[in-house]
Amino acid sequence: MPPVQPPRTYRVKSFGCQMNVYDGERMAELLAQQGIAPAAEGEAADLVVLNTCHIREKAAEKVYSDIGRLVKDGRRADGSAPMIAVAGCVAQAEGEEIMARAPAVSMVVGPQAYHRLPSMIAEAAEGRRSVDTDMPAETKFDTLPARRKVGPSAFLTVQEGCDKFCTYCVVPYTRGAEISRRFSDLVDEAKKLVDAGAREITLLGQNVNAWRDADGRGLEKLVEELAAIDALARIRYTTSHPNDMTDGLIAAHRDIEKLMPFLHLPVQAGNDRVLRAMNRSHTVDSYLRILDRVRAARPDIALSGDFIVGFPGETNAEFDDTIRLVEQVGYAQCFSFKYSPRPGTPAATMADQIVPEVMDERLQRLQAALNAGQLAFNQASVGKRCQVLVERHGKHAGQWLGKSPWLQSVHFSGDAAIGDLVEVELIEAGANSLAGRLLGGSPRPDRSDRGMAAVQ
Ligand code: 5AD
Ligand code: SF4
Repeated sequence: MPPVQPPRTYRVKSFGCQMNVYDGERMAELLAQQGIAPAAEGEAADLVVLNTCHIREKAAEKVYSDIGRLVKDGRRADGSAPMIAVAGCVAQAEGEEIMARAPAVSMVVGPQAYHRLPSMIAEAAEGRRSVDTDMPAETKFDTLPARRKVGPSAFLTVQEGCDKFCTYCVVPYTRGAEISRRFSDLVDEAKKLVDAGAREITLLGQNVNAWRDADGRGLEKLVEELAAIDALARIRYTTSHPNDMTDGLIAAHRDIEKLMPFLHLPVQAGNDRVLRAMNRSHTVDSYLRILDRVRAARPDIALSGDFIVGFPGETNAEFDDTIRLVEQVGYAQCFSFKYSPRPGTPAATMADQIVPEVMDERLQRLQAALNAGQLAFNQASVGKRCQVLVERHGKHAGQWLGKSPWLQSVHFSGDAAIGDLVEVELIEAGANSLAGRLLGGSPRPDRSDRGMAAVQ
């Protein structure tokens, strides 16, 4: 590659899960620290970071079409192609392959190595391409710059990696073994996020409820510590594994008011034979018993999950069990996917792969059941009064959008501002959002523009 001007502007495009969103924010902070500015909306950037997802085939292939588009349409002001960095889980899984297949890519950097971006950018400016997919013992978190201004709802990665080895999943290979970040580092980062404007923090991890510190303290102890931060109003966590749902964490849903009544606990399928083939290490019944305990601790908890349809060998009758489970649980919202064979995973070479037409039909049936459940859950909320954290402007003038404690999107009109926690009555429900009527509110502590005007 010929040498190029060091980049003056950047754009980070994150795909996939919330952990990628978090990594994307941290990369942006790192680039800003190097004096590289975010590219203005609609303008070509000198450096584009594609922060990729490898979880399903479609997501992974997207990186190659994005690279093609950048080379064609993303030219810098002087006509040269942008410097392209591929980060995230596709980078980790296919590092050398990307270098061979996409000569326009200057660097490939895995999710555990992105703190080394500055030196890779310097090399790229000198015309040298580089790949860094190490999973070093020292953690990237120790070398990243401090958090900067964030919105009212912020992410905080507390745990990475997975030791569960579900037979369909690439995560144990791309993100490595489970590691937990240090308690004191997390409390520090949470305080900085709150100082930077966060009123809600969502703790993230591929198996967030497997988080443990060196003294064996579990996630509930971290939640308890964060709940003591005055200006932090809400705490959430995602994604959890059924096997790590401890008594302590369940009790936290009863005891810690700032822990929101929402639990994302994927089950993946509603049939024990399929669950065994997936290596899920829980049964339908043991999953349901966990939900019973969680509901006993927090009766209004909203439940969420992930589902895969068309796992190899799944019969019609086994799939019907998934529909039955969905109807029995009454989920508030869920994600559902067609099984996608991932290279290197045990399920990819299993017999009886399901044909696409059957997969499509099952996904449609499942999504119809999930949508009906979601609508019913929202309709049951009508008439409730709750707090809404205002996250952004709505489509119409004077309209605001925010989240209820149960993670429903709520829109309402009236006197409020981004970052306010307002009291709202839920008056109308759709499948994806609710309308609310503003009753009153408490402005965020740092709002000087309106004093106490929002408290009515
Ligand atoms: N195919 C389809 N869906 C998958 N998921 C993980 N791996 C695959 C795969 N190979 C889904 C699971 C998981 C979510 C993050 O993605 O439901 O919980
Ligand atoms: Fe993948 Fe299973 Fe680990 Fe979740 S628990 S990241 S689905 S291997």
